[in-house]
Amino acid sequence: MKKSLRKAVIAGNWKMNKNRAETKTLISELKPLVKNADCEVIVCVPFTDLETALDAVKGSKIKVGAQNCHFAPSGAFTGEVSADMLKELGVKYVIIGHSERRQYFGETDITVNKRLTAALAQGLKVILCVGELLEQRELGITGEICSMQTKIALTGVDAADLKNIIIAYEPVWAIGTGKTATAEQADEACGIIRSTVASLYGKKAANALTIQYGGSMNPKNAAELLSKENVDGGLIGGASLKAPDFSAIVAAASL
Ligand code: 13P
Repeated sequence: MKKSLRKAVIAGNWKMNKNRAETKTLISELKPLVKNADCEVIVCVPFTDLETALDAVKGSKIKVGAQNCHFAPSGAFTGEVSADMLKELGVKYVIIGHSERRQYFGETDITVNKRLTAALAQGLKVILCVGELLEQRELGITGEICSMQTKIALTGVDAADLKNIIIAYEPVWAIGTGKTATAEQADEACGIIRSTVASLYGKKAANALTIQYGGSMNPKNAAELLSKENVDGGLIGGASLKAPDFSAIVAAASL
């Protein structure tokens, strides 16, 4: 982290976990534990929990995000939710391009770009996920993959909108597997993403961009990952479902 240059952000991605009662409980447990956080704290919850979460975080610095949104404002897109609908609820953040969306739901770099652009147009802040598959890492093309995903996702995005974007580097082989990228691997990939952004928007803009690491981040490995210059926070899956674990990661980012 380089807090003199950019904001540290710890975000929980609850994925398809927690009903409304559980959402209330987890947020009420988290509130006192993160009240002195010196970083931004976000929880990205299932669509059905958004309203409950928005109500539960009142009086705290915890922000609420969704995990996806569609690019059209409305229409015949069964099962989808638009950026306008999220905005109307009072949601401030949305994850776009998570690898589980890419792997299981046919999301492509092009639809990621469309969703990201639609979210920004509605004034939402976006957590854009990029990252390589294990085979791609083994082929030595991690940098190219992250750079390509970043470039396509940001196509048509104005420099002025960069402040509304966080990029999460999530190597797919590290997600939910217990295998964490080493701090050096995370720093290197986040650095490549930053250079890609610099080539598009200039060094100053790239230096101000928050880039998170995500993939089996937990209270044990968080401090080391966050000690790296290019790792400005975390996007946390499994460990975000338990208040003591998530708050320990928030504490590691608050040093
Ligand atoms: P895990 O922390 O469970 O590996 O999940 C990471 C992730 O996908 C966050 O978006």
